[in-house]
Amino acid sequence: MASPELIAAVDVLRAGGLIGLPTETVYGLGADASNDLAVRRIFAVKGRPSTHPLIVHVASVEHARQWALELTEAGEKLARAFWPGPLTLIVKRSERASDAVTGGQDTVGLRVPAHPLALELLQLFGGGVAAPSANRFGKVSPTSAAHVRSELGEEVDLILEGGSSTVGVESTIIDVTHSPARLLRPGGVSREQIEAVLGQPLVLATHATDVRAPGMLESHYAPRAGLWLVSAAEVFEEAARRQATGARVVVIAPEGTALPEGVASLIVPPDEAGFARVLYAHLRAADALGDLILAVPPAESGLGFAVRDRLQRASKRD
Ligand code: TXA
Ligand code: MG
Repeated sequence: MASPELIAAVDVLRAGGLIGLPTETVYGLGADASNDLAVRRIFAVKGRPSTHPLIVHVASVEHARQWALELTEAGEKLARAFWPGPLTLIVKRSERASDAVTGGQDTVGLRVPAHPLALELLQLFGGGVAAPSANRFGKVSPTSAAHVRSELGEEVDLILEGGSSTVGVESTIIDVTHSPARLLRPGGVSREQIEAVLGQPLVLATHATDVRAPGMLESHYAPRAGLWLVSAAEVFEEAARRQATGARVVVIAPEGTALPEGVASLIVPPDEAGFARVLYAHLRAADALGDLILAVPPAESGLGFAVRDRLQRASKRD
């Protein structure tokens, strides 16, 4: 038997409302992907340009097929290897995917999330749930129900409580309409894992002009306070220099990083996946603690690639 919350969430979707949807990557702002009016409300609440396409979340690969002309050979392989999980496939859309969802493009983004509550909801609902991350456009993504409540509160009809997201960065987006497949956004499945399954290197889409993916805009995922990236070797000196200007400095770095007195620090686990898990919660906490953030990025391997990508887009340069 489904819980009363899940049944209520399905009712909200059927009525054209918006839900806060827990996933293993980040929380989504979800609506019935077959209801254009409901989908348009997502754009209004987020303040997102309507030409930026949304990901359709479904319960299984069989459901995914209904939204696509074909998943393609590479797509089938990746779906088998990583669904349910933090992977979004860009495929040619079927008639089911409307312009409201795809921003008028002839492709659609599809994902089967791994969060147990999300999966149960999608099974119960039966259709597709269009969901971007549940934050205002350009801001830090939410990894807890509390983040969604504090940012979008009244504008969401129901927020499902699903605990803290275990992956912590958004899904990896792979465009399988090209061969070799293209990496549009690094995320919760590492590049190495995907290349191992495909047996060939991914093409990296590096220019925001390549695709209409807001996550690829130069400035995105940004906290209110300015964020600068610094190496472990430079962080002490840089923190001291910034502090001397009167700024309230917050440092995001691994345990044991030496810092000047009076500089607040938020500790990240030593491994890249651990960093990913705390990344967005730390950016929010840092925003509350200070007005200037210095972050020491992780190594580039595994999820470090996605974490560095998000930090760079959230950062300022001077
Ligand atoms: O982990 C995630 O992917 C989360 C959770 C909620 O599933 N969702 C998420 O959605 O990050 P959003 O809207 O913040 O980012 C989705 C990205 C955007 O950059 C969007 O432009 C891109 O996916 N996208 C969606 N459909 C696309 C398409 N047909 N072609 C190119 N990019 C697409
Ligand atoms: Mg987003």
